[in-house]
Amino acid sequence: MNTQSTTVYRASILNFQSDPYPIVDGEAVLDNSAYQFYQDGALVIEDGKVQHVGEAHDVLATLPSDVEIVEYKDHLIIPGMIDTHIHYPQVEVIASYGEQLMDWLNNYTFPAEGQFEDKAYASNIANFFLDELLKCGTTTALVFGTVHKQSVEAFFEASEQRNTRMICGKVMMDRNAPDFLCDTPDASYDDSKSLIDTWHNKGRQLYAVTPRFAITSTHEQLQKAEQLLQEYPDVYMQTHISENKDEMAFVAELFPQAKDYLDVYDQYNLLGKRSVFAHGIHLNKREHQRLHETGSSVSFCPTSNLFLGSGLLDIQELEQHQVAYSIATDVGGGTSFSMLQTLSEAYKVTQMKGNKLSPLKSLYLATLGNAKTLQLDDKIGSFKTGNEADFVVLDFNSTAIMSLKQSKCKTLAEKLFAMIILGDDRAVEATYVAGTCVHKRDGKQ
Ligand code: GUN
Ligand code: ZN
Repeated sequence: MNTQSTTVYRASILNFQSDPYPIVDGEAVLDNSAYQFYQDGALVIEDGKVQHVGEAHDVLATLPSDVEIVEYKDHLIIPGMIDTHIHYPQVEVIASYGEQLMDWLNNYTFPAEGQFEDKAYASNIANFFLDELLKCGTTTALVFGTVHKQSVEAFFEASEQRNTRMICGKVMMDRNAPDFLCDTPDASYDDSKSLIDTWHNKGRQLYAVTPRFAITSTHEQLQKAEQLLQEYPDVYMQTHISENKDEMAFVAELFPQAKDYLDVYDQYNLLGKRSVFAHGIHLNKREHQRLHETGSSVSFCPTSNLFLGSGLLDIQELEQHQVAYSIATDVGGGTSFSMLQTLSEAYKVTQMKGNKLSPLKSLYLATLGNAKTLQLDDKIGSFKTGNEADFVVLDFNSTAIMSLKQSKCKTLAEKLFAMIILGDDRAVEATYVAGTCVHKRDGKQ
């Protein structure tokens, strides 16, 4: 083997091959063969790709004695985490007091998004945003820009510099928003098309057609979204659905002929395997069935749903209807960039629904599960040979309380659970993108 560009990372390693809790006869049952855990593991990276993962003792025996080894003792390596719904222009909207969705949009979010007409401003925030994600161990995200084409250009330029695999789209919105944030059906089509032609599959960048939600698009604009998806069948579609009761009532008023909220999008053929619907808290049975039939997915955003008072998503209901779902921060409605904190809040929301979200399932969702909903599991989300080497090194001793709790944990599940409930950006020792270290924590607290 050519060892010139080969590096071995030695630590505990957790890697999923499938869902650790598949549904059998309508019930989630633990499948221990769904994941690999190596207490003393070795991850071999060659030319930015995963070459091999296994027990350090076995792996090292197959490699030349002078191979470069990076040791992370008392650390856990997992694939880079994936966030399936986030708004980069809402960095400064985070922690805005007192409103639910519609007032929050009008009073805080829309004014903040107006600033992205200025490309220099957009670039500045895009760089801040990506650094924040990497600091939290998130290496891929499905991201909203603003209505401004240049906001997405700024984002992709910043992502390209870091070589991160990102999906982003220009928001399409032509009504029920301030004039300075409205485009037209034709302009939204032209700008989206031009961005797709330039950026989709350029390096690791991918494009998502992005009608904000049913409220802010006319019939003519939704037709343009449909046309884009027909012309470019391998791009993504991202939007919002059934997040808030006032929002839902407004949608029903605007689209009286639609069977329900999802049907608005369905009428324009916006459903499918690459379609991600954020929130979906208040969906009906028909909508669940339709999401299942079309292979569309729902993005669960617990910190946002709590912060905006939107409601408690029932993931068990989604599972019963075999609706694919992923997990996401939804910054700036969401309150943290950290997927660990997001999983912690997802656990609590699920408790409120009388159910459990296990630590294995949680970490599966943040990695391979989210990759699958984005149809990217042949590239990221696990340490399958040939996958892009995006990974995170988590520190079991990142804070005093984490360290104390870990010393009392007896099982892997207990240790992972403590990492999720007590972890945040301080738990991320290092983040690697395509085999290159892009974040190293300064010092421990
Ligand atoms: N619905 C439409 N736009 C938004 C947004 O920016 N954030 C959230 N949470 N919901 C939305
Ligand atoms: Zn959102």
